[in-house]
Amino acid sequence: MDHFHYRDGTLFAEGVALCDIAAAVGTPVYVYSTATLVRHFRVFDEALSGLPHLVCYAMKANGNLAVVRTLAGLGAGVDVVSAGEYLKARAAGVAGDRIVFSGVGKTREEMRIALSGGIRQFNVESEAELRALSEVASGLGTSAPVALRVNPDVDARTHDKISTGRKEDKFGIPLARARAVYAEAAALPGIAVVGVDMHIGSQLTDLAPFEAAYGRLAELVPLLRADGHAIGRLDLGGGLGIPYAASNAPPPLPAEYGAMVARTLGHLGCEIEVEPGRLIVGNAGVLLARVIYVKEGEGRRFLILDAAMNDLVRPAMYGAHHDIVPVDAPAAGAAAAPFDVVGPVCESSDTFARGRMLPDLAEGALVAFRSAGAYGAAMASEYNARPLVPEVLVRDDHFAVIRARPTFDDLIGRDTLPPWL
Ligand code: LLP
Repeated sequence: MDHFHYRDGTLFAEGVALCDIAAAVGTPVYVYSTATLVRHFRVFDEALSGLPHLVCYAMKANGNLAVVRTLAGLGAGVDVVSAGEYLKARAAGVAGDRIVFSGVGKTREEMRIALSGGIRQFNVESEAELRALSEVASGLGTSAPVALRVNPDVDARTHDKISTGRKEDKFGIPLARARAVYAEAAALPGIAVVGVDMHIGSQLTDLAPFEAAYGRLAELVPLLRADGHAIGRLDLGGGLGIPYAASNAPPPLPAEYGAMVARTLGHLGCEIEVEPGRLIVGNAGVLLARVIYVKEGEGRRFLILDAAMNDLVRPAMYGAHHDIVPVDAPAAGAAAAPFDVVGPVCESSDTFARGRMLPDLAEGALVAFRSAGAYGAAMASEYNARPLVPEVLVRDDHFAVIRARPTFDDLIGRDTLPPWL
């Protein structure tokens, strides 16, 4: 459920008409709904209420300070994957002991920043990383809380590019080697083993792969405890999918996920950590764009928007589907026709949808891409020297710009000329 709906024939985010935001801020622009963020966080948090747990929002999905602060205010921890994310989370008001640091390639500098600022846990993915962390933590005279990320070799049955728990993926430590690496961790100075971590992929629409992976975790924990490790936390990663198209089968409900977690892992007496990203922010955001031209092609009609692949790369990168809706509701019974919805960027992959059935849309009309709150603005770039897409947060009947559109001077001023030019 989200808080984007038509009122008097035009699309609103909560109590704000999207056309008013377009008029004030221009397009393209991302618009997020606070009420939807709050609702999604609460539903997920509730789903795990039977177990001691911490929801660590995966801010890679949407790292805007205002989004992170909104969630932190509800009690969320944060999952970060870079020093930049760590420092943004701190700037958003998240305490270090509520931040977990994931990622396969943390640098020593990143480790130093997180250890100095305070950190709940590093999710470590290799022996090499473990040794580096041991060196850095010892050098700082401190000890790094560590969960090792294990790779359960489970196929998440999602898009190949966002599947992370198969043995051929770069992530985690193979289960068969886990005990040996834990033994090494226990022997290293500056390392304190606190738990086990796992993340098998993103946009999962079936609980079975999660259940298979968590079952392997449930087998591993008693072995690690028997080896003498204090396993008090299980980080289960993120990955629960969201509905992108009304026509698709709905993904499992958070409550069903929570019940499965309790069933497979509840008996271990661990604190559960989860790292949802998309589930919290995906359907809390839209990308608002304007039609520049309607172009008649050879047997095709192109809707050329002022948003492009640099603003929302998911269709180009993963062939992802986003519902596209007109901001002004079409008249009841209005005919729909197939459009190729494209952006102005100079490559054919700048195509959001082919043959998408839409009502007649004229130059200047506004459209909204649904489910664009996750991995939308976060993955945006300035390709084709298009200024980075701005972001707006709505709460009730007011809105605020939470990242301004850079000016052309900002964009040009970011480059510097060497002295010989
Ligand atoms: N934890 C870890 C260690 C992750 O790598 C990820 C996502 C998450 C949590 C959050 O997963 P979520 O709950 O959002 O599914 N750009 C792609 C998605 C990449 C996901 C990467 N890792 C997309 O647009 O679909």
